[in-house]
Amino acid sequence: MQPDAKTPGGLHTSTVSLQGDGPVILSFPDDFLWGVATSHFQIEGNRHEIKNRISDWSNWTVQEGRILDQSTADRACDFLSHYEADVDLCQSMNLNTFRLSLNWPALMPKPGATELDPEMVKFYRTLLQMLKDRGFKTFVTLFHFCLPTYLSDAGGWRNAKTIDEFERFTELVVKEFGPELVDFWLTLNEPLAYSYQGFIGGCWPPGGKGDYVGAFEAIRNLLEGHARAYAVIHRLIPNAKVSFTVHWMPFVPRSSWNPFDKMTQFMRDEIFNHLWMRSVETGNLQFVPPLTVDKRVRKLCGVIPGLRGSIDFLAINYYTRQVSEFEMKWPPDIFGIRSDLAEFEVSSLGWEIYPDGLYKLLTHGLDPYRYDDHGNAREIYITENGLASMFSAELSDGDWSLNDELRVNYLLAHLIAVHKAVKAGANVKGYLHWSLLDNFEWSEGLRARFGLVRVAYPTLERTMRKSAKIFAEIVGKNALVDPVNSFYPYL
Ligand code: FCB
Repeated sequence: MQPDAKTPGGLHTSTVSLQGDGPVILSFPDDFLWGVATSHFQIEGNRHEIKNRISDWSNWTVQEGRILDQSTADRACDFLSHYEADVDLCQSMNLNTFRLSLNWPALMPKPGATELDPEMVKFYRTLLQMLKDRGFKTFVTLFHFCLPTYLSDAGGWRNAKTIDEFERFTELVVKEFGPELVDFWLTLNEPLAYSYQGFIGGCWPPGGKGDYVGAFEAIRNLLEGHARAYAVIHRLIPNAKVSFTVHWMPFVPRSSWNPFDKMTQFMRDEIFNHLWMRSVETGNLQFVPPLTVDKRVRKLCGVIPGLRGSIDFLAINYYTRQVSEFEMKWPPDIFGIRSDLAEFEVSSLGWEIYPDGLYKLLTHGLDPYRYDDHGNAREIYITENGLASMFSAELSDGDWSLNDELRVNYLLAHLIAVHKAVKAGANVKGYLHWSLLDNFEWSEGLRARFGLVRVAYPTLERTMRKSAKIFAEIVGKNALVDPVNSFYPYL
């Protein structure tokens, strides 16, 4: 690693160094997968879902004060009518992989269903078939944060009934689409981020605040849900590749000499990064002390049937690093708070840009989970990585946001980190950028834009940003060609 450089703004820019003089070509392995990641609620604008408010999220967005820019996902990118053009865009960007999620509430509008909604099946079948016909690999997520209201009203993932329904949903989906249309199965997206935001942070449904026990109950049920879905998929497709995505975040204490800040860093790293992964690896959910002082938490500990080793590849969502600090208050919170101190340059969401963290994760951080029971290194896929810029949802014409230098730099820095990790021996097999399009960014609403491709929401017009063009070039060459001189200003 090179020492951190200073940006004009005075913040450090995290860098990954390149060796040597003259043109540098950083080639990726031949079979490397290049793609984009999406999720249904954030892009679909599903009329049936919206009209009848059949999901927790579609209800949440219309409650007063839930979404920071007061937008909803009622229309979002209207992907349901634009998917063909959007797949064309992916093709024009030379991509070979697409990640999508299935709309559980729309596919299974009633509990206990014995078949999926035929209209929605038709839509996903057409989309997946189109991707396959054009030579794409597909990653399909079964649960990407959205529950049918008949489950969320009954307690969501805190209620074991949700596990049964998720198992049933998985079985119906696999019978319908696999193995012809799906290459990689992701049972759950970011279960820890989901539980945190829904039970502790309060900004996602069901809106719990500081409810650690609620979050831990949900985690236990999500683990069971994953284990059951994993078993169903393998029963129907013995050689399926199944995993879940993990949102991995390096944590650092605000002050390295303050033992309280260090404790918050340890607790956040332990729960956010390791609790889930270790539980899957061992098949046994165990919380660390002092959490187990609480009888309700102790009750959740123990072996979960079918969980041990239920992971065929590692699916990593990596965005940022977080500084944590202890807050003086009563009663004390051993997890502390996310500090507003930033050492590195930040995105407009305040997320530090820290590509070194991805390199370190791929080369060291994943060590406890790198090998399967037979000693084979698991394949690693970056299933999300990207950067937000803020532009009002009302903007339409003009060249606003198209020259997205910061996203370009972010993309390049992270690809250099991935390349370096591959060279160091990490078994990384693919990189999926979040996201293809600007989309509905949960509690941030439509203004937090993560797209390589800009969406002007009033007209739904799609326009490639500079980052999309550069990504297309990299993917086309399967290499970063002279990133220092061509486009990366920080190295
Ligand atoms: C991830 C989510 C994804 C998107 C990005 C920015 O945590 O999986 O849906 O919101 O963050």
